[in-house]
This record gives sequence, C-alpha cells and structure tokens, in this order.
Amino acid sequence: MGTEEQARDLLCKIPYPGLERDIVSLGLVRSVEAGDDGVRITLALASPRPDVLEKLRSRIHDRLAAAGLNPVHVEVASIGPSASTSDPWARRGRLRGAGRIIAVGAGKGGVGKSTVAVNLALGLRDSGWKVGVLDADIYGPSVPTMLGLEDGARQVRLTDDRKILPLEAHNVSVVSFGFFLGSGAPVVWRGPLVGKAVQQFSRGVVWPELDVLVVDLPPGTGDVPLSLAQSVVVDGALVVTTPQRIAVLEAEKAAEMYGKLNVPLLGLVENMSHADCTCGRRSHPFGRGGADELAARLGRPVLGRIPFDEAEVEGGDRGRPALVSGPDGAAAEAFRTLAAGVRAHLEATVPEGAAS
Ligand SMILES: Nc1ncnc2c1ncn2[C@@H]1O[C@H](COP(=O)(O)OP(=O)(O)O)[C@@H](O)[C@H]1O
Ligand SMILES: [Mg+2]
Repeated sequence: MGTEEQARDLLCKIPYPGLERDIVSLGLVRSVEAGDDGVRITLALASPRPDVLEKLRSRIHDRLAAAGLNPVHVEVASIGPSASTSDPWARRGRLRGAGRIIAVGAGKGGVGKSTVAVNLALGLRDSGWKVGVLDADIYGPSVPTMLGLEDGARQVRLTDDRKILPLEAHNVSVVSFGFFLGSGAPVVWRGPLVGKAVQQFSRGVVWPELDVLVVDLPPGTGDVPLSLAQSVVVDGALVVTTPQRIAVLEAEKAAEMYGKLNVPLLGLVENMSHADCTCGRRSHPFGRGGADELAARLGRPVLGRIPFDEAEVEGGDRGRPALVSGPDGAAAEAFRTLAAGVRAHLEATVPEGAAS
C-alpha cells in the first residue's frame, strides 16, 4: 500500500473531537500527499477554532506517527470566503440572536429539500441546540405543512415596530413566507421585490437566542439565495439532490452558485438514497452514485444519505417529520448523522465577523 493510501486509511479512523464520526467522512480532509519531506495533510475548514484545530493536529500526528509515518505536516485550506478577494457583500451583517445560518438548497424542486431542512433542524435540536427555521421558499413554502403550522398565517404576530415574531413547532422557532402569502393563487415575484422580501424575512424577525438558523431556500439559482447572501452572513450551505442524473446536474449549478456567493459549501445530501448503494463508490447503470461523483468533483463530502422512507411521505404532509413520527427509523438515524456532521463543521469554525 502506498504511503498516501495508508495515511488516508488512518485518517478515516480519527474521530472528530466530541463525535464518533471520522474526519474524512465529514469532509474535513482535502488532500493527502506523500513527498520527500513527509506527509502533507490539508484540512478543509472555513476558519478553524484554534482549540479544535490543535486537537485535530495532535490526533493526526499521534495516529500517523504510531504507524511510522513521519514527519506529518497539517495545513488548513479555507472553504470559505477568501481573504484576498474584497468582500462584495460588505453591507451584510450577522443576524442578531441567530448564531449560525445554514442554507439548504437544491438544483430542482421535489428532491426533498424542505424535508431535509426540517429534519436537519430537528436533529440539531435533539443535539441540544436552540434552532430556528426560516422557510424562504417563496415559490412553494411547505415548512408550515411539514411542521403542522398550516394555520400560521392567522397565528403569526408582529411587534409594534413591525418585526415578525416566530411561531413554535416541535420546540423549533419557525418563520415562513407561507405565513404571509395567503392561500390559493401562486405569487409571481419579480427580482427587486424578492430582494426586499428576503431582507425583511432575514433581518426583520425577532428570533429568540438561537444556536443555528436553518434556511429552506427555493430550488435553483434565483434571486432568493443571492438576496440572502447579500443581506446576512450565511455560514454554510447544503445542496440536496436525489441519485438521479438530472437532479445531480442541477445540484452542481446550485453548488457553484454558493461558491460565487462566498458561502462555504459544507457538502451534499443525497435524499431518497438507495439502500443497496451505501458505499456509493461504484457508478450504477441507473444513475446511482451520482451524488458521490459530484461530491468528488466539488471536493466536498456527502454529509447525509437519507433512505426512501414511506413514513416520511405520510408524516411530512401531516406535520410529523421523520424525526418526530419515526425517531427510531433509518431515515431519522440518517438525519441525526447529517445533523452531527453539520454541527461538527460549525463548531470547528469561528463565525465570520465574530471576534476570535
Ligand atoms: N427520504 C424520503 N422518503 C420518502 N419521501 C420523501 C423523502 N424525502 C422527501 N419525500 C417526499 O417527497 C416530496 C417532496 O419533498 P419536499 O421536501 O417537499 O421537496 P422539495 O422541498 O425539494 O420540493 C414530499 O411529499 C416528501 O414527503
Ligand atoms: Mg420545498
């Protein structure tokens, strides 16, 4: 076995501090190179917290040294906004109260983006975090239905200075465009209006003190993600896809968009994953493994693989997402794994714009 391969295998056995999951599957290892001067390992992190980085370094050094791999150089490559480029969104700020912001996007509709956003939020809640959900899918807000807040339009209240007070469902704070659209006719939104609406929805909400805000974006690369990234600091994005080729192709465009918006892409989520393709390294005649191919091209991990789950189809439409209706099921387990991966990424990094 070559040195690089050996080093990579060892890295696969190093858990992220505080988690059972290893640093390779979390997408923290960007490259492993063996040369005359030893083994060079590059970690992909937006802006690593010094204590976490120190722990990671010493774990890597110890593990590789024990196998006779010496010397080891551990470097960090940023997956976030690069310091050398001037920040095109200098006006944006951090949301008060909302610790970190995770955007959930997809190339096309119907791949399960909202299902993932909602269950990710619940998974993060289960991990002990205070969580909010912002349903910014102006074209098809489905979070109210998924969380049993169909009546949200009548329940939602504004403060005296016209700020939105979130509703609560399953111990998560929720604001949805759906609360304000009224039922019936789909709304046609034009660019400038979208920008205004997104700004109001991101900055004009009185969130309680949150650890993380999960934003359900509309599919595609339209005005909403652009407006969001312009008005607030988005700490990371996930792109949801199904294994089908067409969904993966569209997902790639969405992933590229986050790069242009200076939003770190944490990874992909493969929804309605096939149970017989958990390793995912092989390509498949029916287009399976597409998410893995894309992940490899992007140099980011597949952070979650959510199996097709009959109960989710039922429960999702009745305000009972997988993590509520079937917490012991395979889908719930997959969502918890995803949440752990997202949490690890966020904990490993210092928020942009915060004192470090
Ligand atoms: N893993 C899954 N297993 C079974 N059904 C799912 C799964 N993920 C999503 N669905 C169903 O697929 C439909 C589309 O999901 P949704 O989250 O609304 O997609 P999107 O937000 O991308 O348009 C919903 O009816 C949802 O319940
Ligand atoms: Mg949706």
